[in-house]
Amino acid sequence: MTRETPANRRVLVAKPRGYCAGVDRAVEAVEKALERYGAPIYVRKQIVHNTHVVKTLEERGAVFVEETDEVPEGSIVVFSAHGVSPAVHEQAAGRNLRTIDATCPLVTKVHNEAKRFAAKDYDILLIGHEGHEEVEGTAGEAPAHVKLVDGLDAVADVEVRDPRRVVWLSQTTLSVDETTETVTRLRERFPNLIDPPSDDICYATQNRQVAVKEIAAEAELVIVVGSTNSSNSKRLVEVALDAGADASYLVDDASHIQDSWLEGVTTVGVTSGASVPESLVDGVLAYLAARGFGDVREVESVQESVRFALPHELRRELRAPA
Ligand code: F3S
Repeated sequence: MTRETPANRRVLVAKPRGYCAGVDRAVEAVEKALERYGAPIYVRKQIVHNTHVVKTLEERGAVFVEETDEVPEGSIVVFSAHGVSPAVHEQAAGRNLRTIDATCPLVTKVHNEAKRFAAKDYDILLIGHEGHEEVEGTAGEAPAHVKLVDGLDAVADVEVRDPRRVVWLSQTTLSVDETTETVTRLRERFPNLIDPPSDDICYATQNRQVAVKEIAAEAELVIVVGSTNSSNSKRLVEVALDAGADASYLVDDASHIQDSWLEGVTTVGVTSGASVPESLVDGVLAYLAARGFGDVREVESVQESVRFALPHELRRELRAPA
């Protein structure tokens, strides 16, 4: 028995989607370093969490390493958008490496908050995912003061030295709704809990979640383009499901889509994580068009105009004669 294909198939594409200002800056930093110094340029960890971006930069001469001790002494190393702890800076200095720090300025802001509250001897409840590079970098700013809270279930086990001196901070790429719930639970346990001076979940994460909610309310299926190690991309799948989509899948590119997902579907939502180049979304739209989803409408919920300057050490170098 063959299933009937709905006649009015359409695609709703979320806007904003894809590259944020921090990813744009980090990728450009590696590209400019390659242009200026030539290959190889070493990069500690994936510069951003996207396999296609990493592969493209590798083809141009970037060498990705896990730790600085894999980088030959005296070489140039770029630190990824997720940030690094002071210990990593020290290791790099100890090996006489020239560093370009592509940490997103919005991650640096959280590092600075951690340092400031640690200096005042607060316990810092850092809401985030265990093992994520950003969390390791932020926690490394004040290891004696930071306690990781990895999700709602972790709240019950948190212990602090003095419940009157507690602040919460967070990873920049979490679900806004889930984090609000976690903070509510933390505050039930610690009524004097202080909020961060400004939102730690960054504008790009928030905007992409608002945008996916809007399309998910009208779509049976939401396809999120992003890699499996991308925190903000994974959150988009969860937010889409919470907002009413019957199904939502994370795909690295169009080749990961299964035709069976489209059976009986009239409206497909499409979005992409903050580290995803637009060409991958184009590939998904082409795949869908070939299967009768040629009616594409972009749904814009928030306008974005944020841009960050390149890391200062690179700007200085680019200004000097080659
Ligand atoms: Fe920065 Fe947010 Fe992008 S922290 S790297 S602007 S996802």
